[in-house]
Amino acid sequence: MLVRKASPARAVGVSSGNDRRRILLGVTGGIAAYRACELARLLVKSGKEVRVVMTEAATKFVAPLTFATLTGAPVAVDGFGPSAWKMEHIELGRWAELFVIAPATADVLAKLAGGEADELLSTTHLAFEGELLLAPAMNTAMWRHPAVVENCRRLSERGARFVGPREGELACGETGVGPMAEPSDILEEIESMLTAASGFEGRRVLVTAGPTVEYIDPVRYLSNPSTGLMGIELAREAARRGAEVCLVHGPLAGSGLPGGIPAEPVVSAQQMYEAVMRRIPKADVFIGAAAVSDFRPVRPSAEKLKKEGKRGLTLELERSPDILQAVGRARRPGQVVVGFALETGELLTEARKKLASKRADLIVANAVGAEGAPFGSSSHSILLVPARGEPARLPPQSKRRVAGAVLDRVKSLLDG
Ligand SMILES: Cc1cc2nc3c(=O)[nH]c(=O)nc-3n(C[C@H](O)[C@H](O)[C@H](O)COP(=O)(O)O)c2cc1C
Repeated sequence: MLVRKASPARAVGVSSGNDRRRILLGVTGGIAAYRACELARLLVKSGKEVRVVMTEAATKFVAPLTFATLTGAPVAVDGFGPSAWKMEHIELGRWAELFVIAPATADVLAKLAGGEADELLSTTHLAFEGELLLAPAMNTAMWRHPAVVENCRRLSERGARFVGPREGELACGETGVGPMAEPSDILEEIESMLTAASGFEGRRVLVTAGPTVEYIDPVRYLSNPSTGLMGIELAREAARRGAEVCLVHGPLAGSGLPGGIPAEPVVSAQQMYEAVMRRIPKADVFIGAAAVSDFRPVRPSAEKLKKEGKRGLTLELERSPDILQAVGRARRPGQVVVGFALETGELLTEARKKLASKRADLIVANAVGAEGAPFGSSSHSILLVPARGEPARLPPQSKRRVAGAVLDRVKSLLDG
């Protein structure tokens, strides 16, 4: 990750005076600013030292006094106020270990992406050298706007991490992607970023993510609703633990590709197979989290299929390459192979069959249609079935936590 590490507290005037973790909470002018109060409270409750910097717009939604009371520290808003002589942007930037902006408006995402510095929060962002976590919140149309998507991509490439937005009811009454992540989920992300995870240094991890798409004609295809989130979380977590990661992914919904991780986009199962087989000889670990189409049309039409004069249409399908099986067959000693199984049948039986037929070390099995069924959901109930040892059922939890649990297993397999 292209992340600059914060130095220990060395600011003059912003005292630390203890070894609590130092979180700078940026609050910007969205309706979700009121939920940042809950986040501030959770952070303080979990033992963090919290300072808050607000934009002028944010103060229209929540008074700085609320955050000052919750955190027990003055709130920074005006870069040219009475304490301007202390150059608060530099002091706060040096003081903080982690800068979380929640909510992050479309406006502030644009400012950060463009490196603007015309008020305190964005100036502090430039003066800050640690890890940045963004919790965007906005109307669905705003979140999908190409300018916002592009700004998120740029920030992500620079190493910023994102949490949310989630899907839910917006302040404007619509339902869609846009509400800020739950404060508890933001806290979870912060905790994960603060935990110096390791154990994968010098290891190369190849992850597949997302659906594959098999075209029937130039405008129609066979695919599935995979969002790629599970693979993305695995790639992110492996990188965080020190691995050299490569992500081969099918077409993804949203803009959440992890920054600083090499990624190869593909469309079809055949292309994913070729990308994986090219990269597998150098990988220590393969994690196949992509939802690969098992079948593809034998003869995709070069022209758009017309309905005129037809009462129906029969498509002839053939098997597409079995990537996990090919990786299992080509595996070299010491390589760890992990597959995902999405099943409607009996999970354990199906997972064990898959372990044997693919020569995998671990199958991560999901039940379709069960509570927390995987597609598009951020919380996820799964069964970990190892080739050796007892299976373990994980309760519904975030995909980031599932990724952590899978990588813990992978680590013990690598340590052998
Ligand atoms: C009632 C109201 C609610 C708003 N909610 C949001 C929001 O949820 N997300 C967002 O990006 N902008 C929202 N805006 C627009 C921002 O407040 C506006 O872009 C402002 O310039 C952001 O300033 P800041 O990024 O400096 O805080 C809202 C505006 C109003 C009046």
